[in-house]
Parts: sequence; structure tokens; C-alpha cells
Amino acid sequence: MQTENIDMRRRRFLTAATAVIGAGGLAAASIPFIGSMNPSAKVAAASAPIEVDVDRIEPGALITVLWRGRPVWVLHRTPEQVARLHDEKLQARLRDPDSREPQQFSDQVANWHRSLRPEVLIVVAICTHLGCVPTYRPDLQPADLGPEWFGGFYCPCHGSRYDLAGRVYKFMPAPLNLPVPPYFFVSKTTVRIGETTDGGERNWSPKVW
Ligand code: FES
Repeated sequence: MQTENIDMRRRRFLTAATAVIGAGGLAAASIPFIGSMNPSAKVAAASAPIEVDVDRIEPGALITVLWRGRPVWVLHRTPEQVARLHDEKLQARLRDPDSREPQQFSDQVANWHRSLRPEVLIVVAICTHLGCVPTYRPDLQPADLGPEWFGGFYCPCHGSRYDLAGRVYKFMPAPLNLPVPPYFFVSKTTVRIGETTDGGERNWSPKVW
């Protein structure tokens, strides 16, 4: 079992390593963000836009890159995960299902999937409560999260829950959806994170990130 877990982690890391184009932006999948990164990592973290080939991320897998010193998730959602975002029971539990709060870089992504393409989610991986890194929990109805868990992100610090579009549930310590950073597709499969085509990233200022 332990060997399987190590293999899985290694596989995820290799996926992340091959998906990021150019050096510097890779934080590795599922590794908690910590303030004690080494100096070269900090320099890399502060550096500008990162390109990711989303085609190299397996459906259902998530990688973490660094942008402006913060972890950013790139999740390749499966068709089932996309379909679940529509679930009426889920929608009823969300605080801001239509992304009315300006937690995204543009109205272009203020939609039900909070993204430019339904299958690709890009969000800042920092809980909008007090800044912990949530965990990716795609499993349905796991014992520890209960029968009403649709898959999403769970913050272990104080229990905030987000769905697979980074939308926060009602009555959670976290007040807002996870921020969607500026990005655009430079090709069919490559996304550039940290920039927009019209310089709109300069005005991007979510309330919490
Ligand atoms: S920091 Fe996430 S719930 Fe408090």
C-alpha cells in the first residue's frame, strides 16, 4: 500500500514536471505550500507567467505551479466532474455559485465552471479564510466528509469546503470562492498563467488571495 502511494505521488510529480513548460513554476502536486521555501525557489516563485500544457495532465489529475509566490492549481476535470458542477443539490449549498464576487480576473470566467474551458480549472490554492492550502478530494461521499460531498477541495485547518470549481460552500469559515488568476490559452493545449492578452492582469485584485 505504501509503495502504491509512493508510486502515485511520483507519477503525479512526473506529470506535473512534464506539463510545465519552462523552469521555475513547478511546485509539485499535493505538496503543501510553506513559507520556508529555499531562496532560489522564492526567486522562481516571484517570477512571471508560467506555461502549462494541459494535455499532459491526465483527466482527474491536478498539478500545482507557483505564481507570484503562491501555489496555483491546474486541474484537468473529467467529463463526470464537469457534469457534477451542475448538480442542483450542490448549487443550493454554494455561497456564490454564479461568481458574483470579483474573485476572478474577468467576467469571462464568471460562469458555472469558473474557467475558459470547462475541463480546465485554474485557481489559487489558498483558502480564503486564513490562508491554508486545501486538499484535493475528488472522491465521492468519503467517510470523513460525509454523504453530501460531491468532490472538491477541503481545507484541513478549519473545515472550509469548496467544490470542483473552487466555489465555497455556505456557512463555512471561508467567505469567498478561490481566486481565479489571470490566464489565457496560447495554443490549443497550452495555457499561460499570470497574464491576459489585454494586460488585464494589472487590474486583478481579488478581495482575498
Ligand atoms: S484557513 Fe481554511 S478554513 Fe480556515
